[in-house]
This record gives sequence, structure tokens and C-alpha cells, in this order.
Amino acid sequence: MKRTEVVERLLPKVVKASASAEHFAPSNIALCKYWGKRDRELNLPINASLSVSLDYLGSHTRLIPVEAQVDEVWLNGQQLQPGAKFSQKVSEFIDLFRRDQDLYFRVETRNNIPTAAGLASSASGFAALTLALNDALALDLPPEHLSILARMGSGSACRSLFTGFVEWEMGQREDGLDSHGVQLDQAWPGFCIGLVEVDAGEKATDSRSGMQRTVETAHLYQSWPLQAAADLSKLQQAITERDFALLGQTAEQNALSMHATMIASWPPLLYWQPESVAAMQKVWQLREQGLQVYFTMDAGPNLKLLFQHEDRDTLLQHFPNLETVEPFGH
Ligand code: DP6
Repeated sequence: MKRTEVVERLLPKVVKASASAEHFAPSNIALCKYWGKRDRELNLPINASLSVSLDYLGSHTRLIPVEAQVDEVWLNGQQLQPGAKFSQKVSEFIDLFRRDQDLYFRVETRNNIPTAAGLASSASGFAALTLALNDALALDLPPEHLSILARMGSGSACRSLFTGFVEWEMGQREDGLDSHGVQLDQAWPGFCIGLVEVDAGEKATDSRSGMQRTVETAHLYQSWPLQAAADLSKLQQAITERDFALLGQTAEQNALSMHATMIASWPPLLYWQPESVAAMQKVWQLREQGLQVYFTMDAGPNLKLLFQHEDRDTLLQHFPNLETVEPFGH
């Protein structure tokens, strides 16, 4: 099914740019990863996933209606060429909302996280853009619909519409109207995420082409949907019971399993750098010494550490440059 057909079901026929709008959306880190699509046009996943949103780390997006017949896209203070990849993705996404009407915008996005370094800035970017479009076009859509629209920009963006723990229900429908983020109403004060930046540079293979290559070429991928489903229930249980060891172990194993499917693709896909492996070994060593710390990784070389507030100071001695986020306070 085409994205435009789905949009017809969610949006009023005629929309008008009413005003400028500005929105923030947080980045999110998946504890059970989204890896593989059953529909590439609509970004419908093969498996359900679960993430935690990163509080103040994310994207601010401002929309200003312009007279020109083309969108003007700015990223972190710099105007992008209309042909640039990000600029095209943004404009194609806005096409879904404007359809055949003359509604063009100056789009200013600022990320306070490194762009394209596996820290999910496209998730927060599309979520913030969706929220800003909802305001600028006075759409007044419910959160589930906004999540569905954001998903069509980038799959993981459907989770960035919400704070705290968020599940992306995979859904069954062909039009994807049942595939969106759902906020879990469980908080976990003291739950910490630490960002270990190995390399903030742009990665060679983005998640989109990486997951497609994995689905098409890795035999190992066949085991992924089952593992993801089992991990999702363990994570739900860990969150309900506040069982940190179960959460950490499940998230780390889930990330490594996803990376195993990437490595087993052809041509092989290895996002790790020597410093990534060194950081993993440091985590394993600290755990052997009794520290409750785990990691997860996305399609990039950086690690995200999972730990609890009481261990923060000790951990900072081993990872002095760690940027830490406590999504639920402490
Ligand atoms: C490894 O959401 O960036 O971060 O839907 O093609 O835009 P597209 O992919 P994207 O993939 C994110 C993959 C991941 C895991 C996750 O966030 O669940």
C-alpha cells in the first residue's frame, strides 16, 4: 500500500498552513531492537520493539511557512542543498501532508545529539517534524496517529512521540494503522543511560539499507523475530518488577544478537570499531567485579550503557566522558 493512501485515512482533505510552529522530540534507545521491515514503503516492522526516550536529548524543529515553491531545510544552523539526502527525506515527508497544495516551509532542525552516529537522531527529527506539522497545519491529531505518520518518516520515530518506556506494537494490518508507539505507564527513578561516544562521524551504511541487507542476505536473520518476541516479554517483566539484572542482560543480548545478524550479512556489516570492542570488554570486566552495568548498541560504533543512579559515580571513574541521562529522575 502507498504512503499517500494511508495518509488519506488520517488527514483532512484540505489543510492550510496557519502559522509557524516549533517542537521538541526526544531521541530514544531501543532495549529490544527494530531490525527488519515487512513493508518498506510504510516502515512496518517484522518485530515489535521497546525503547526508552532520552528526556532532554533530541531534536528541536521549527517550521516557518514560505512563499517559495520548495522547502528550505536547515540542519544544525546550516542550510542544506535541496538534493542532500536529509533534505530530500524531509521534503518527501512534508509532501505527505501538503499533497497537491502550495504549502512550503523553511524547516530548521537542531539536534543536541551527534547526527547519524547511531544515536537515533532521525527518530527524534521525524517525531519533532510530525509534531510541528500537526501544529502548523492545525491538524489536532491524536498521539497514535502522529506516531503512525512519524513512522512513515523513519520507523523508530514512532517511539519518539512519547517519553519514558515505549513499546512499538508491530500490528497486523496492511495499512499499518495498528503499528505505532504506546507509552508504558511505568516509571523507573534512578534508571540511567550513559552515552559512550566512540565516533560521532557519519556512518557508511545507514540503518535503512543495513536492515534491508540483513533481511535479504543473512540466514541467521531467520532466528531474529523469535528472539525479539522473547526478549520483549522479558523486558516487560523486568520493567514491571524493576528487575535491573533481567533488563540489562536482555537488552545487551538483544543488541548483540542483532549485530550477529548484521555480521552474518553479505557483504558483511560490522559497525564496531576497535574502541567499541574495548568499551564492551570494560563493561564485562566491571560486571565481573560486581558493578551492575550493561550496554546496548545500534547501527553505529557507539555504546549506550545501562546502569542505576547509585553506580553513577563509580562508573564515571571508568568512563570519564560519559554523558548520562536519567529519564525518570532519581
Ligand atoms: C538499530 O528507524 O533508523 O536503531 O525505519 O529505515 O528509518 P528506518 O530505520 P531506523 O532504524 C533504527 C534501527 C535501530 C534499532 C531501533 O532503534 O530499534
